[in-house]
Amino acid sequence: MFDRLFDGRIDRASLIIDTLTLAKLRITRFTGEYWTSKQRQASSLHEVSYRACFKPQLPRFFIETLTHPGDTLYDPFMGRGTTIVEGALFGRKVIGNDINPLSKILTEPRLCPPSMEEVERRLAQIKLGKRRDRSTDLAMFYHPNTESEILALRGYLARRLASRKEDYIDRWIRMVATNRLTGHSKGFFSVYTLPPNQATSRENQKKINKARRQKPEYRNVKELILRKTKSLLRNVSDDQIERVSTAGESARLFTGGAWHTKRITDNAVDLVVTSPPFLDTVNYAQDNWLRCWFNHIDHKEVQTKLTVVRSVEEWVSVMERVFQELHRIVRPEGAVAFEVGEVRKRNLRLDEIVVPIGLRTGFRCAGILINQQQFTKTSHIWGVGNNRAGTNTNRIVVFQKPH
Ligand SMILES: C[S@@+](CC[C@H](N)C(=O)[O-])C[C@H]1O[C@@H](n2cnc3c(N)ncnc32)[C@H](O)[C@@H]1O
Repeated sequence: MFDRLFDGRIDRASLIIDTLTLAKLRITRFTGEYWTSKQRQASSLHEVSYRACFKPQLPRFFIETLTHPGDTLYDPFMGRGTTIVEGALFGRKVIGNDINPLSKILTEPRLCPPSMEEVERRLAQIKLGKRRDRSTDLAMFYHPNTESEILALRGYLARRLASRKEDYIDRWIRMVATNRLTGHSKGFFSVYTLPPNQATSRENQKKINKARRQKPEYRNVKELILRKTKSLLRNVSDDQIERVSTAGESARLFTGGAWHTKRITDNAVDLVVTSPPFLDTVNYAQDNWLRCWFNHIDHKEVQTKLTVVRSVEEWVSVMERVFQELHRIVRPEGAVAFEVGEVRKRNLRLDEIVVPIGLRTGFRCAGILINQQQFTKTSHIWGVGNNRAGTNTNRIVVFQKPH
């Protein structure tokens, strides 16, 4: 299987094999265009924005190369759920985890998508009348009537959850509304602001409004939820709906630290495809403060739990605990594809740091794969966060648990 990963599908001549500083460990870096954004289009079901998410083609490459239908796929840092949703679309069983509760809110509904008609009918039943909450000042983002509708929807969803009446349609509406809260086009509830995965502060928004001489216009919350639902489902076939729903029935999505996943049994996982938080590059909790507010999550509390590390030593000690846990739950001969971006202006190569961590915790390193892709405009759609100078490179360290 690993031969297929590095050789089978790529023209040998296109490989640049680096002799690394890791040569002593006999670990090879393979550079090539293993997947591209032009390669088989990704499903529209992925189009939920999230900071530092990867493109669906990345997990797809490993899923197709290293697993079979029915195998179990796991992501300990699932974010918006790219690995989970892609695995489900390909008929794999899925397990996910993230310390941020928003991650489950954004992932779970796409493992049980409702039809347009179901969403339409449910929205028609929800009263989004006038509702003012003087303790919440979001006037710099929303027209007063839009703000009332958001507050009413937030209240409805909270009541459904508290009374245990929340179902897959409510969860879908929650996910879409969370996704539509702020953004830079008329498809969002807010006035023009930063991209949707990066909510700015109230004070900054006031400055943006002043600089752009803008005032929030009215946006119809129900209409925008329906429009986004249509867009998310636009290229999802009936077969795919069936596959994700089957995966959804057995899916297990956890909210907690990646090093402490006791509910996952030993040797349960065939393949892990993941991308950890990097060194202090993204502040997930701050970027998500408005999404947290909408879902009654205390973003400051989430901030204290998230791994935000400032030194390599600290990062290594956190990842060592994560790898120990992965070694417990991955089956013998199962694999881990661990994506590390390029941080700190390319001076620091996290892939070289990850290899010894994996080896110390009992894995064998099969190699480092560098997917080099020329930057295209469409890459933006997927929220690729590490585009620089026209090239997007993902580095993935591939490990195998020995028999
Ligand atoms: C690079 S993002 C993953 C993005 C994901 N691959 C996607 O496509 O959406 C890293 C994720 O790690 C999560 N995270 C940070 N610290 C964590 C921890 N200690 N345990 C589990 N998840 C954590 C963050 O909330 C964030 O969602």
